[in-house]
Amino acid sequence: MTATPWSARFEAGLHPTVAAFNASIGFDIELLEYDLSGSAAHARMLAHSGILSEAEAEALVGGLEQIRSEWRAGQFRPGLEQEDVHYAVERRLVELVGEVGKKLHTARSRNDQVGTDLRLWLRDCIDRIVGRLGAFQRTLLDLAASHVETLIPGYTHLQRAQPVSLAHHLLAYIEMGERDIERLTQIRERVNVCPLGSGALAGTVLPIDRHYTAQLLGFVALSENSLDAVSDRDYVVEFLAAASLIAVHLSRLSEEIILWASQEFRFLTLTDRCATGSSLMPQKKNPDVPELVRGKTGRIFGHLMGMLTVLKGLPLAYNKDLQEDKEGIFDAARSVESSLEAMTILLAEGIVFQPDRLAGAVEEDFSNATDAADYLVRKGVPFREAYGVIGAVVRHCLKSNALLRDLPIAQWRHFHPAFDDDLYAAITPRTVVAARNSYGGTGFEQVRAALGRAEARWQGHFPSAAAH
Ligand code: ARG
Repeated sequence: MTATPWSARFEAGLHPTVAAFNASIGFDIELLEYDLSGSAAHARMLAHSGILSEAEAEALVGGLEQIRSEWRAGQFRPGLEQEDVHYAVERRLVELVGEVGKKLHTARSRNDQVGTDLRLWLRDCIDRIVGRLGAFQRTLLDLAASHVETLIPGYTHLQRAQPVSLAHHLLAYIEMGERDIERLTQIRERVNVCPLGSGALAGTVLPIDRHYTAQLLGFVALSENSLDAVSDRDYVVEFLAAASLIAVHLSRLSEEIILWASQEFRFLTLTDRCATGSSLMPQKKNPDVPELVRGKTGRIFGHLMGMLTVLKGLPLAYNKDLQEDKEGIFDAARSVESSLEAMTILLAEGIVFQPDRLAGAVEEDFSNATDAADYLVRKGVPFREAYGVIGAVVRHCLKSNALLRDLPIAQWRHFHPAFDDDLYAAITPRTVVAARNSYGGTGFEQVRAALGRAEARWQGHFPSAAAH
């Protein structure tokens, strides 16, 4: 029978299957380094508050650092019988430093401990993901800067609508990434609150100094209510929601890259470094990277729904259901990180836009129809009337298999007397894109200004990277 910390209270040992079912060590080992840091801060606080002697705290901190070295050297690999990372550390600590190890858990519960560990872990995780978003944004910015005057069809309903600057299209994703960075930064503030010292649910009778522990761990605030502190997982939900939106953004970009790489669009080609072949069809080149990124949204959304469901209807305060918070958040974080990393590489060296195809695409349709109507508007024709005139022109062209630019001026005049020779210059793809010069629009001047603003924001977010 494996001894548990509660063996004294119990007569029989835990059923081995139940022990395995109950254990979280298989996944919460990911929290190990945070558990060690949290425990070291706790031990220091206990001495600072006169609850332990300085010598005792030194012994505890020394033992905890020893476990850290063992872990990093691959020598500390606790098994299922350890139940969770917190017990595993405590048991090893007693082995290493003897009786004094049993004092570490003074004025603490695993309930406030696990919340502390998870918040410390998430804080680092957010910083890593923001860094990955920064690299992703950097690549998009550079790509956009080189395509200000490259034209691409703009779509609504996946029907050609109006041509746009390719940089403008890419800048749309930069805006999404900007909101992702802002969201994570805001969530980080609510993550950065210390629950340690809340005890199991009600606080402690010992004269602890919660401010001191929080300060040692770099938390900027203390949780205000011990019941809430040990049962709050709002920050997990918030992070999963933010991760889901990042996944949505990456998935939409993936979908476009997949479409653009298809034979039907051929707006870009995939390089050999970022595409895969088929085991059967020799001619194939497949966009596995964006497909996988698009596919990973499934598990990330799933973890968000899973966590909301775990929390719904839980009575205060800690319930073991909360142990189910970890695998989902770990997996979501890994999925988002790896997706961002792969997408960044794909954008940097996996895709090559096809200028000829793009130039051809914006020539061969009626996406300048609005501009022909606007031409009449500038000549004083009411928009609704102009719209009707161009509608009739388009219908005529479709019947005679012609484009707007193919129609001789005499025919245009037949539809409306206000048309003149300057019409043709007004409806070339370049002119129509350049002319959309309203703030936030696709006109080249606006796109250059937007790029400048996005660049400044990026420098603001990542000043040290910007200095390089
Ligand atoms: N392994 C547990 C978890 O992940 C730690 C907290 C256990 N607390 C308890 N009262 N059983 O949530």
